Amino acid sequence: MITIKSRSEIEKMRVAGKITGLALVEISKHIKPGVSTAELDKIAFDFIKRQGAVPSFLNYNGYPASICASLNDAVVHGIPSKDIVLKEGDIISIDVGAYKDGYHGDAARTYGVGKISAEAQRLIDVTKQSFFEGLKFASHGAKLGDISAAIQEYAENNGYSVVRDLVGHGIGKEMHEDPSVPNYGRKGKGVKLASGMTLAIEPMINAGEYDVEVLDDDWTVVTADGSLSAHYENTVLITRDKAEILTLYDEV
Ligand code: MF3
Ligand code: CO
Repeated sequence: MITIKSRSEIEKMRVAGKITGLALVEISKHIKPGVSTAELDKIAFDFIKRQGAVPSFLNYNGYPASICASLNDAVVHGIPSKDIVLKEGDIISIDVGAYKDGYHGDAARTYGVGKISAEAQRLIDVTKQSFFEGLKFASHGAKLGDISAAIQEYAENNGYSVVRDLVGHGIGKEMHEDPSVPNYGRKGKGVKLASGMTLAIEPMINAGEYDVEVLDDDWTVVTADGSLSAHYENTVLITRDKAEILTLYDEV
């Protein structure tokens, strides 16, 4: 069931979204060579708690941390560890969620560690831009497939592939609500969007093929071919006009 949020619910989604977006800003300040992903997780946990919110991911289906920290060929759901230490040239995808007053925010970015290759930077940039290409179609009366197709077309035109096994989602009282928001699809297909829907749009883009595998920790999703992967996600509110991005507090 797709829920349409009331004005008061939207106000709460804005608050949860802001905490989520600011958590990313806080985490990003600490991304440098020598830092472990467990340290980044602690920074996120402390920040979210200080805002009077709860980390959405912690204990979700048994997930053991407040962020997902997915390094290089890891796509999503990387479990933070003191043994995973960032080094110059890595790319690291950070996904975080905050739950406040009964509502969730969910957002992700991929960051470069120190100086990274031009190719890694291009993957990060294309992944981010693919979100904004999709966002152009995120408004009342459009079809979900319009967003999906725009993301896919942009990523594939740039020589990359779109992960199929994981998708975006509705969000609100639950972190994962209907509808599923694939990053691939056909224009004009799928459900009609309406004002008051809140969606987590989150392209996961691989430099190589789209196939993924799950590691033995049962969480970390990696590219099957070992190629780099990037992620960019925001929680957005559908309106009659341009979508309102609820989790964007870093540079656009
Ligand atoms: N943010 C992820 C998503 O967009 C969810 C993380 S799964 C968790 O679906 F278990 F880590 F919470
Ligand atoms: Co999400």
